[in-house]
Amino acid sequence: MSEQAFDVVIIGAGPGGYTMAIRCAQLGMNTAIVESRATLGGTCLNIGCIPSKALLQSSEFYSEAAHGFATHGIKVGKLEIDLPAMMKQKQSVVDATTKGVEFLMKKNKITWLKGTGKLLGGGKVEVTGTDAGTVSARHIVIATGSEVMPLKGIEIDEKQVVSSTGALELAKVPKTLVVIGGGVIGLELGSVWSRLGAEVTVVEFLDRILPTNDGEVSKQMQRILTKQGMKFKLGTKVTAAKSGKAGVSLTMEPAAGGAAEEMTADIVLVSIGRRPYTAGLGLEAAGVQLDERGRVKTDGHFQTTAAGIYAIGDAIQGAMLAHKAEEEGVVLAELLAGQKPHINYDAIPGVVYTWPEVASVGKTEEELKAAGIAYKTGKFPFTANARARAMTMTDGFVKILEDDKTKKVVGAHIIGADAGHLIQELVQAIEFGASAEDVYRVCHPHPALSEAVKEAAMALDGRAINI
Ligand code: FAD
Ligand code: NAI
Repeated sequence: MSEQAFDVVIIGAGPGGYTMAIRCAQLGMNTAIVESRATLGGTCLNIGCIPSKALLQSSEFYSEAAHGFATHGIKVGKLEIDLPAMMKQKQSVVDATTKGVEFLMKKNKITWLKGTGKLLGGGKVEVTGTDAGTVSARHIVIATGSEVMPLKGIEIDEKQVVSSTGALELAKVPKTLVVIGGGVIGLELGSVWSRLGAEVTVVEFLDRILPTNDGEVSKQMQRILTKQGMKFKLGTKVTAAKSGKAGVSLTMEPAAGGAAEEMTADIVLVSIGRRPYTAGLGLEAAGVQLDERGRVKTDGHFQTTAAGIYAIGDAIQGAMLAHKAEEEGVVLAELLAGQKPHINYDAIPGVVYTWPEVASVGKTEEELKAAGIAYKTGKFPFTANARARAMTMTDGFVKILEDDKTKKVVGAHIIGADAGHLIQELVQAIEFGASAEDVYRVCHPHPALSEAVKEAAMALDGRAINI
């Protein structure tokens, strides 16, 4: 390949990189994207959001058929799990989605340079692989994402001791599964295998699961998941894991210190977080610095410490979420085109796709208390929502937090069926600077789960109707 020149070269075709490439192309920039994986879409589409949601959906259907249908007068007889068929379904969703991105690259005339990108400095990127060569660009973007955080003393072999990648590929339902880390991956993938019949124990270092969520949400989710059969060992750290024929022997001890205990499991899932991936990128030679947590240092406008080199997504600070990476990609493309776009990090929702789902946006009660902000709370349980009753999905609540001084919604936390969709109304409220009253003055359809959002907003002003 002879040296080609582009306006923008993006390294990494995850949600951040590929979305940015499309926006750049829409804005008339000649754009290339360097991706070393055989398919586009990054972690999210290949080994993250999409395959995990496919398995969550399939296992939810199974769980409903096994435990939910009878209440509705539906008898299904003997149920069976066809795991290879379930995995095939998951793969077909992944394939359709990653091929869709490839189509979008072609449609927008974006050049996919197949291979691994390395910064050479001076506006150049070296590509090793199928499209080996050197390309130059006015703007270079690091969108290389993240990788699994390793745990000292534990070797991930993706067979017995797996990361999320291996947990999406298990050949059979394990009898016992120990999940290290009670965060998002632990609870989502723990739920998948628990629903399919595994005995799942979550070992969490801190004294609560989902530690970055609102405290009340963490407590209630633990109760709900316990009811579903998952076990929890909180305030506990795993110090060693040894794989053998009889499974994996784990050594764990109380986080606060104390006597060690042993436990065995067929499969162990390590899900203690992810870290930015920048290996082999040639950062140092190009003058791109990392911060104390190994993230590419940026100035708030995605500019790294090297002129002409920018970074977005999981590789930089902030929540490691696909939609956060996408927003940053779009905003950076528009900045490069001379526009003045805006990104509101207080209005980025987070959803945990367990059953019921957990969705949140903005501040938690703990954060507001720590910041000394006076606030009002409005809460409404799904047990009092007629649609939730008809769905026999009454677990959970909607909680809205409003700043007492500004009368603006500053946080919202939902546990419930479809919480991931319901939260959007409150994301909008935060973005538009709305009050709880603005939320409940808007008409909501009946009967709908969204009425619980309206009622929580009304509860905040002491005027809920149905409770
Ligand atoms: P990535 O998606 O990681 O993409 C980076 C790409 O860069 C990769 O394809 C990589 O191969 C490529 N690359 C890296 N270095 C080079 C190089 N030198 N040369 C060429 N290519 C390179 N987020 C959500 O919002 N919702 C979810 O439901 C969700 N579920 C998840 C489930 C799991 C199991 C996991 C692991 C993650 C999940 N996430 C979810 C997080 C989400 O996947 C990430 O936040 C998102 O993928 C980050 O996007 P990105 O573009 O920054 O990087
Ligand atoms: P996480 O940060 O969500 O959770 C990690 C958990 O492990 C925390 O509760 C932490 O206290 C605990 N932990 C840390 N060290 C430990 C140790 N030594 N022993 C026991 N517990 C320990 O990270 P997770 O679940 O690995 O996911 C990584 C990221 O991927 C998430 O932060 C999220 O950004 C993204 N993701 C998003 C999803 C979504 O949006 N639905 C789904 C899956 C992943």
